[in-house]
Amino acid sequence: MAKDYLLPDLNDARKRDKELSQKVHFSFDSEYEGMGKGLYYYIITHGCQANQRDSETMAGILDALGYAATEDEKKADVILINTCAVRQGAEEKVFGEIGALKRLKTSNPDLIIGIGGCMCQEEETVRTLLDKYHQVDIIFGTHNISSLPKMLHDVYTTRQRKVEVFSKMGDIVEDMPVTRFMSHKAWVNIMYGCDKFCTYCIVPYTRGKERSRYKEDILLEVNQLIDQGYKEICLLGQNVNAYGKDLSNDYGFADLLNDVSATGIERIRFMTSHPWDFNDRMIEAIRNNRNIMPYIHLPIQSGSSKILKKMNRRYSKDDYFALFDKLKQELPGYAFTTDIIVGFPDETDEDFKDTLDAVDHCQYDNAYTFIYSKRKGTPAAEFPDATPMEVKEARLQELNKKVAYYANMNNQKFADQIVEVLVDGISKRNSNTYSGYTPENKLVNFTGTDIRTGQIVKVKITEVLSFSLNGIAVK
Ligand code: 5AD
Ligand code: SF4
Repeated sequence: MAKDYLLPDLNDARKRDKELSQKVHFSFDSEYEGMGKGLYYYIITHGCQANQRDSETMAGILDALGYAATEDEKKADVILINTCAVRQGAEEKVFGEIGALKRLKTSNPDLIIGIGGCMCQEEETVRTLLDKYHQVDIIFGTHNISSLPKMLHDVYTTRQRKVEVFSKMGDIVEDMPVTRFMSHKAWVNIMYGCDKFCTYCIVPYTRGKERSRYKEDILLEVNQLIDQGYKEICLLGQNVNAYGKDLSNDYGFADLLNDVSATGIERIRFMTSHPWDFNDRMIEAIRNNRNIMPYIHLPIQSGSSKILKKMNRRYSKDDYFALFDKLKQELPGYAFTTDIIVGFPDETDEDFKDTLDAVDHCQYDNAYTFIYSKRKGTPAAEFPDATPMEVKEARLQELNKKVAYYANMNNQKFADQIVEVLVDGISKRNSNTYSGYTPENKLVNFTGTDIRTGQIVKVKITEVLSFSLNGIAVK
């Protein structure tokens, strides 16, 4: 029963202390060595790039314990689901998946099912898992991945369920094993957590306070990736522009961009940028380093200054436009994308029109659009909201139409051009078609011969679609 366990607490997770993060080194007890010999694991990942990267750490830990990966969940001895809590829909999907795993547990009672990630930072989720989903053996939070060896060992030896979720975490765990899921593109965390507290967002609660990794650790990781043949890295943080602020050593994101660029790695991306911390030195670093890709994701969330204020975004529509216009001017040829939420509590037709106008103003290459989803424990969950769901859905559709219009318009400039594509692999739909991304992060499907994943190839664009380009590889 839930009451026997120490449950996470969102109120506790809201607290921020001024203490500098401690760096701790990963290790596990030597008695766990070889624990997974002859056993298989299967990991399901939901959510953002931070979760993708965390799953690579989980895989790395399981590999270090002697387990082997399998693509077939029926063959698995350990199944982990790495969950996302950012919207209700993602959570419902996970509960559905856990429900479906019951069948596997019945046919293999030795199967261990572990649920980790952002959902496990929510008290209500953990209660529900404990009370209603008895097939789950391990529940672990975003701060508890390094405890996987002990949790697994304890389940094997005690046959009791294990719950380990810290609400707060000031530490950075370095040297965790990692098994990357791709061999040419890699995620590199530069910071964890978020202190922005946008009123709709659960992330500052589920991922804790902003804490930056030391530049030496980041650069070491990038250099190792170069040695392993990686072509592209993406520097990750909920808010990369705030990098280094907690370390208070005058070394910020612009400095890090310059140093990462100097490693000589072929392609550098970063996400996500918050308009609040984007300064001129960063623009200069992006412009001056040719291996920093010409692509910026800059979430606007809403075009209404009234709604932005209620969202606690710390900028008005005019502040955003001023930054956006400056970026557009100083970084010609760059692609820009954004995130937009429609139907935030009490968003009026007028407010929504401001959002449409913002899309007209910025003419984004693409936008990730969402209907507001109420997250228990966040301030916006208490805001009155009289707008019916049908109205919100209609707004989303109207917005998506506009987004597609500008996506198509921006893609037209690639017609008949030769672009450089970092190859991701053979297309799932068509076996002699490959896919990959241009420096501007445009998806390209193309035909060619003797092409390998991780190669950068020249492709002549033959057809322009709204959200992708088609072409033929050229020598
Ligand atoms: N409802 C809808 N969308 C949300 N996002 C974050 N929280 C919510 C929420 N409660 C969106 C934001 C963010 C993106 C990752 O997810 O647009 O930038
Ligand atoms: Fe959430 Fe805002 Fe932090 Fe992004 S900046 S993770 S939207 S609180």
